[in-house]
Amino acid sequence: MKVLVTGGAGYIGCLVVDELLKHNHQPKVFDLFNWGKESIEPFMDQIEIYEGDCRNSRDIIYALEDIDAIIHLAGIVGEFACKSNHKAHFSINIESTRTLINCCTDPELDLVRDFIFASSCSVYGNVKGLHDEVTEETPTAPLSSYAHAKLRSEKIILDAMESVPHFHPTILRLTTLFGWSLRPRLDLVTNLFAYNAWKNGKMTIFGDGLQYRSLIHARDVARALVQTLEAPRLMRSGRIFHVGEETNNKTVKEIAEIVQSQLPSAEIEMNPGQPSDRRDYRINCRKLKNIIGWEAAYSVEDGIKELIENLNTMDWDWESERYRNHLFRYV
Ligand SMILES: NC(=O)c1ccc[n+]([C@@H]2O[C@H](COP(=O)([O-])OP(=O)(O)OC[C@H]3O[C@@H](n4cnc5c(N)ncnc54)[C@H](O)[C@@H]3O)[C@@H](O)[C@H]2O)c1
Repeated sequence: MKVLVTGGAGYIGCLVVDELLKHNHQPKVFDLFNWGKESIEPFMDQIEIYEGDCRNSRDIIYALEDIDAIIHLAGIVGEFACKSNHKAHFSINIESTRTLINCCTDPELDLVRDFIFASSCSVYGNVKGLHDEVTEETPTAPLSSYAHAKLRSEKIILDAMESVPHFHPTILRLTTLFGWSLRPRLDLVTNLFAYNAWKNGKMTIFGDGLQYRSLIHARDVARALVQTLEAPRLMRSGRIFHVGEETNNKTVKEIAEIVQSQLPSAEIEMNPGQPSDRRDYRINCRKLKNIIGWEAAYSVEDGIKELIENLNTMDWDWESERYRNHLFRYV
């Protein structure tokens, strides 16, 4: 398949490109390259690149030529980043989904039948005391504008399926990612703790640290996206799946302790007075395993170990905004 990967140079995107190539697909990266092109440099001679903005229908229409499927990852990721520019957040995280869907389903243009969207389990908000675990049928209760935008995009996509015959979208709600990628993100809780422990010898927990996060390695997510795309349409069309691993459901305090087990000199500092991210949930991840046959390969321990190894060996400017989404000036 010739697959358009929007956001293909990002944290997840560059791993998806690698995975698509391993499966003999032809990736075409569509990206604004907010973080540059270094993450896809190893693949340059095997892929197509379209530098464009997914808010711009002209860019999308030209990029869609000969495309069989789309994996839609482009976006502003995380609540702090979304809050930094509300207009950019609205136009990229909601309206560009509408533009993309219009362009790939309009009868004037060639229909792109297969569409995978990277949504987020943040749509569930805080279920403590309500649900021991969250399935794909659990009612959503987003706490952030980022999570609201994901839900609105899901609706745009699933509504299009109702009105366009032979359009087969799938929604993957990702748990929180961790681990190494050629565009590393050091703003995600596990990676942030590992970086702070490595750099400053200290991790700070806001709140009581007992809130649950469901975690998944970025490379496992890339495999899930590609494996879902390759599954028969009957198995995936119009469906919502969680991408996660139940043994990686950890409290924030447990995550810090796993980091500490690998960097024993690092301290854990509790800051209960400081408000923390209120999300709290344990995600049931069986549906994707049962229907698509995908399974996670990496534990949180594996991801932290690999990240620390790379921090030790790569001579990169780790303090750069390039590795922290909320520091970027979105327009
Ligand atoms: N990382 C996570 O924990 C996580 C969890 C759940 C869902 N997701 C979703 O997965 C997707 C990818 O996340 P990521 O962590 O790889 O983020 P990322 O910031 O590393 O990648 C996003 C990419 O999108 C590109 N982009 C941004 N605006 C664009 C625009 N207008 N047009 C074209 N390209 C644009 C950026 O240049 C970047 O390369 C996002 O949709 C995100 O919401 C991520």
